[in-house]
Amino acid sequence: MEKIVALCKRRGFIYPGSEIYSGLTGTWDYGPLGTELKRNLKNEWWRSMVALRSDVVGIDAAIMMNPQVWRVSGHVDAFTDPLVECLVCHMRFREDKKDEIAQHENSHKGEKVEWTQPKKFNLLVKAYLGVVEGEQSEIFLRGEITQGAFVNFENVVSSTRVKIPFGIAQIGKAFRNEITPGNFTYRSREFEQMELEFFVRPEEAEGDRWFDYWKEERLKWYKSLGMDNSKLRLRKHEDDERAHYAKYAEDIEFEAPFGWSEFEGIHHRGDWDLSRHKLGYVDADGSKFTPWVIEASGGVDRSALFFLLNAYREDEKRVWLSLHPKLAPYKTAVFPLLANKPELVDKARSIYDSLKPNFMTAWDDRGNIGKRYLSQDEAGTPYCITVDFQTLEDDTVTVRDRDTAEQERIKISKLQEYFSNKLK
Ligand code: GAP
Repeated sequence: MEKIVALCKRRGFIYPGSEIYSGLTGTWDYGPLGTELKRNLKNEWWRSMVALRSDVVGIDAAIMMNPQVWRVSGHVDAFTDPLVECLVCHMRFREDKKDEIAQHENSHKGEKVEWTQPKKFNLLVKAYLGVVEGEQSEIFLRGEITQGAFVNFENVVSSTRVKIPFGIAQIGKAFRNEITPGNFTYRSREFEQMELEFFVRPEEAEGDRWFDYWKEERLKWYKSLGMDNSKLRLRKHEDDERAHYAKYAEDIEFEAPFGWSEFEGIHHRGDWDLSRHKLGYVDADGSKFTPWVIEASGGVDRSALFFLLNAYREDEKRVWLSLHPKLAPYKTAVFPLLANKPELVDKARSIYDSLKPNFMTAWDDRGNIGKRYLSQDEAGTPYCITVDFQTLEDDTVTVRDRDTAEQERIKISKLQEYFSNKLK
């Protein structure tokens, strides 16, 4: 974990939020490489969940919603964590996080630590809207992006051609007043979710079928992007840990350095949300019913962190991120062998310009070639292209593979085709 945190800061993946003012707990800023990684993750998610499907449409709902949404959805009453307070130093912890509580007790080095009874603590973040001082109205920043899909359910049905079973997909920011943010970006107070709400007929067999289907689809998606199968598992929620809206739930978990941890939640929400919002559906045969919802709710930040952990490699010579090419921030990098030879620089520039429209491409002419390779390895760039003196004679370049460090000579005229095949 320490190595990943240091690499993220050093190379511009992730910085602590508001760092020059001592930070703001539970917030993170993504640098140039991290922003590309997150964008790639979201694009891949959108492609598989919306673009390639005929039964899912996408929306982008507002972060600020009428507070009534959160009262009706049950979040004002039930989106709570039970908290216990250390009577020695008054720090608060989630009652169910036994490891964190034990760790905290140890930090008091043998002193007897007593705790308060658990108290409920609401996770919704409040904000205030209004132009006249003193007449502001209190709202909540959304604690899950999900409610935007429910309040727009009838809008989507009436403005598109979707028919049950169908899904509404969305990606966006959510906010939670987490008691103990931690493990780097794993538990943040501001984070992004990528979610599918899939509406099905309210029948047990239908609910079960789609629950199993989405569990498998989502696992397949993580594996298709290079996630190590042995680091993934499904875990059923116990009765006492299920969210207030869930009939039943399973988590896709990743084996992180801090233990098996939730990647994504697959929830059977039944008719909890649509019935609370008094929304329904009329089928083609005129029958009216309240659909059930199967939800696949993943975190963009957690995915970025887990894919980085999954990709981290080191040996005695180098550190590299073996990211899937689709996730890698840069796909290729172009170097002139020497920065002070205009004929090499011009040739390299023309290759850089020709690759850039099709592949996210980096340019580097600092230091020596070895250092440039090491720098791109740490950024996870799958291929580096070097223009050398042989290039000026036969129009070939060296292409180096990030994972094997092997090099081959490729004709400049074949580069587009070469990378189109390699980066699929
Ligand atoms: N709509 C359902 C929902 O929000 P959740 O299990 O509370 O369910 C879904 O959250 C996903 O959102 C989690 O699996 C995780 O990936 C991400 N997530 C939740 N809380 C988070 C936090 N504090 N920091 C980062 N990601 C978080």
